[in-house]
Amino acid sequence: MFFQCKLVILMLALTLDGQVYAEKIFGGHEAVPHSRPYMVLLEQHMNDGRTKHCGGFLLKEDFVMTAAHCQADYFRSDTVLLGVHDVHKIKEIRRVSVEQTFPHKDYNATDFKNDIMLLKLKSKVQFNKNVSPIALADQGDGSLPKSCIVSGWGRSNRNNSYMTPTLMEVNITLTDNEWCAKEKLYCSEGLNGPGEGDSGGPLVCEDGKAYGVVSFSGKPNSDGSQMYCFTKIPEYKKWIDWIIGHKGSSSNASNHNI
Ligand SMILES: *[C@@H]1O[C@H](CO)[C@@H](O)[C@H](O)[C@H]1NC(C)=O
Ligand SMILES: *[C@@H]1O[C@H](CO)[C@@H](O)[C@H](O)[C@H]1NC(C)=O
Ligand SMILES: *[C@@H]1O[C@H](CO)[C@@H](O)[C@H](O)[C@H]1NC(C)=O
Repeated sequence: MFFQCKLVILMLALTLDGQVYAEKIFGGHEAVPHSRPYMVLLEQHMNDGRTKHCGGFLLKEDFVMTAAHCQADYFRSDTVLLGVHDVHKIKEIRRVSVEQTFPHKDYNATDFKNDIMLLKLKSKVQFNKNVSPIALADQGDGSLPKSCIVSGWGRSNRNNSYMTPTLMEVNITLTDNEWCAKEKLYCSEGLNGPGEGDSGGPLVCEDGKAYGVVSFSGKPNSDGSQMYCFTKIPEYKKWIDWIIGHKGSSSNASNHNI
C-alpha cells in the first residue's frame, strides 16, 4: 500500500543563496506579500556550518509552532525570522532567538508520529501588520475542512535543490482517509503540495485557522502525484495548552524534552 512506502520528511539542508527558480511550492503561486503575517522561517545553524530551514507559524508573542522533525540534533543556535516575504529584504525581517524547544514527548523519528513542536522565543515579539499570530482549529465535529492552503519557502520544483526566496502558497483539498485519521493526520493527494523545506509550516483552512503542521510526504507515484501528511492540530490541543500554560512565563533557558 501507498502508506507503507518510504516516507520523506519535508526538510532539507537547503540554501537560500545562489540560484533559485521563480517557481512554486509544488504547483502553487507566490503569496501576496505579508498576507500571512503568522508565517515564520526557522533557521538552524548547525555545528558543521550548514544552515537548515523549516517553516513555522506564530501562536503567541513568544511561541511558534513547527514540526518535531525540524529539531536538529547538533545545532549551535535556532533563530526564527518573522515578517518575511522575500528573504533578501533584510530590513523587513525580524530575527528572534529560540530559548527552548518542546518537541512532543511521543514524537517518533522513524514513523513521524506526533510530529509537532513548540518553540519558546527568547523575547516577546511586537505584533504589527507583518507579524501577527494565527488561531488554532478546535476539536470540532471531526469533519474534514474543505479548502485549505499550505505556504512555505521550500523547494518549488522536484528538480530544484534550493529554497524559494519569496513565500509561496498552494490550495489543496484534504482526502478522507481512515489510515490518516487513525494516525492523527490530515492528508491530501496530488501533484500540488508542500515540498522539501516546507516542513513545520501551517495547513490553513477555510476559517483562517491552522489545522495542521506540514510533516511528510509519501513516495511519488509514476505520474508524480504524492500523498502529503499534516499533523492534525486539534488532536494536540491539550498538550499545546499545557506547554504554553506551564512554560509561557519566563523559564530557565535550556533545551529539554517534555
Ligand atoms: C517508532 O516507530 C517504529 C515504526 O513504526 C516502531 O517500530 C517503534 O517501536 C516506535 N518507537 C517507539 C519508541 O514507539
Ligand atoms: C526534472 O528532470 C527530469 C529528468 O531530467 C525531467 O524529465 C523533468 O521534466 C524535470 N521536471 C521539471 C519540473 O523540470
Ligand atoms: C484557493 O483558495 C482560496 C480560498 O479558499 C480561493 O479564494 C482561491 O480562489 C483558490 N485558488 C485556486 C487557484 O483554486
